[in-house]
Amino acid sequence: MSTASQLVKAKKSIEAQDNEEMSLVEVLRARENGVDFRTAASMFAGAVDHFESKGHNLYRRMLLEPSDAEALVDYPHEAGERRMIMLASNNYLGLASHPKVIEAACQAARMYGAGAGSSPLLVGTFPTTRKLETKLANFKGTEEACVFATGYSANVGVISAVCGKNDLVILDRYSHASMVDGAKLSGAQLKVFRHNDVEHLDNVLRRNQDARTRLVAVEGIYSMDGDAAPLDEILRVVRKHDAMLLVDEAHSTGVLGEGGRGAAAHFGVEGQIDLHVGTLSKAIGACGGFVAGKSDLVTYIRYFARSGMFSTAPSPMVTAAAAAAIEVIEEESWRVERLWDNCRFLHSELKRMGFKISEQPSPIIPVIVGSMPILRQMTLELHRANICVNSVPFPAVAHGSERLRISLTANHTREQLVEALRCIKRAAYNAGLFGEKAAA
Ligand SMILES: Cc1ncc(COP(=O)(O)O)c(C=O)c1O
Repeated sequence: MSTASQLVKAKKSIEAQDNEEMSLVEVLRARENGVDFRTAASMFAGAVDHFESKGHNLYRRMLLEPSDAEALVDYPHEAGERRMIMLASNNYLGLASHPKVIEAACQAARMYGAGAGSSPLLVGTFPTTRKLETKLANFKGTEEACVFATGYSANVGVISAVCGKNDLVILDRYSHASMVDGAKLSGAQLKVFRHNDVEHLDNVLRRNQDARTRLVAVEGIYSMDGDAAPLDEILRVVRKHDAMLLVDEAHSTGVLGEGGRGAAAHFGVEGQIDLHVGTLSKAIGACGGFVAGKSDLVTYIRYFARSGMFSTAPSPMVTAAAAAAIEVIEEESWRVERLWDNCRFLHSELKRMGFKISEQPSPIIPVIVGSMPILRQMTLELHRANICVNSVPFPAVAHGSERLRISLTANHTREQLVEALRCIKRAAYNAGLFGEKAAA
């Protein structure tokens, strides 16, 4: 069959069966097989229109309020808008709409304008930038920090500045795309070790001793599984081989460790990690990314990270908001505590109900449903019940581990979580996850 007709077939099967796998995978496969961009784009647009006309597109939902424990969500194909319990936001501490954070952004806009107007190396640095960098360095227990426009660009810029063609990047198999992209851009050799398997990492390091710089990169909390990297053990192995350790704290900053200081604080290895990378867009509630570490390492990265050098600096509004958010985390320690209360409650209830979930509680709880049709049916039913949850299909996760990805915030009330649990259980029965239908 020609590749173009493969794509036609994929589109038809999507139209015939709403439970079919969404066409993203089919399109990627067809492109790999040689279908040109215009053909793929036209057919993909048709498939998206089809899903949208039925109100079944689970992507690109528009929020009409801040992304918090509850939000008003646009539903153009139905009544217009719905108030939903939000289990899909990474605003873990509820700071995106905190009055102090918003006020800091407004004040910075009035003083310095809405945009930075230049890259950080030229004239894109403001007092709000330096204030944030100092706060981030203190929060992480490091000498220096440098901000980027996003967490994605921080990983891409840092990894490709630290490593080059004579070097080696070693990633956990579940590492975020931004680390993979950074490794590819660096031109270094890329090796992968089994998820959280310290012995395997030890072997990979032992077998690859010739590279000049060897950078091991892991995540504080993994974005699709919600589990933590065993940083103390990983650090021991990395030190044994005289390699460097980068920890992406996108999901652990503001979440793990005393006062939300992150994964290093949680594992008692603060001050020992070579490079912390993170985002300002999740628990910190704003937007942007950062790297923190020893002064000389951060200075080098500041001058050599291409994603920093060739990109406009984060807006003063954003850096001011993020600095204010770190102050709030320090002042309102109950937020981290309440987040964990919510994590423990939802995790234990899902476990009691018999769902296949992560072993330990965390603000990211994957509910493994194991097939695309069940995932689609459950997600649609949950959305109809006003529970906004992310569905994670292949290729974002392996076939057979398709999942609902639940994320929690400090602002969720017990009532909201109980209602969400009731709906998740009913959707699971209706989709046949437990082998029988729920009573009406
Ligand atoms: C582990 C991880 N690293 C990096 C990023 C990128 O951060 P940002 O959204 O700020 O670009 C994300 C998520 O978006 C992530 O989950």
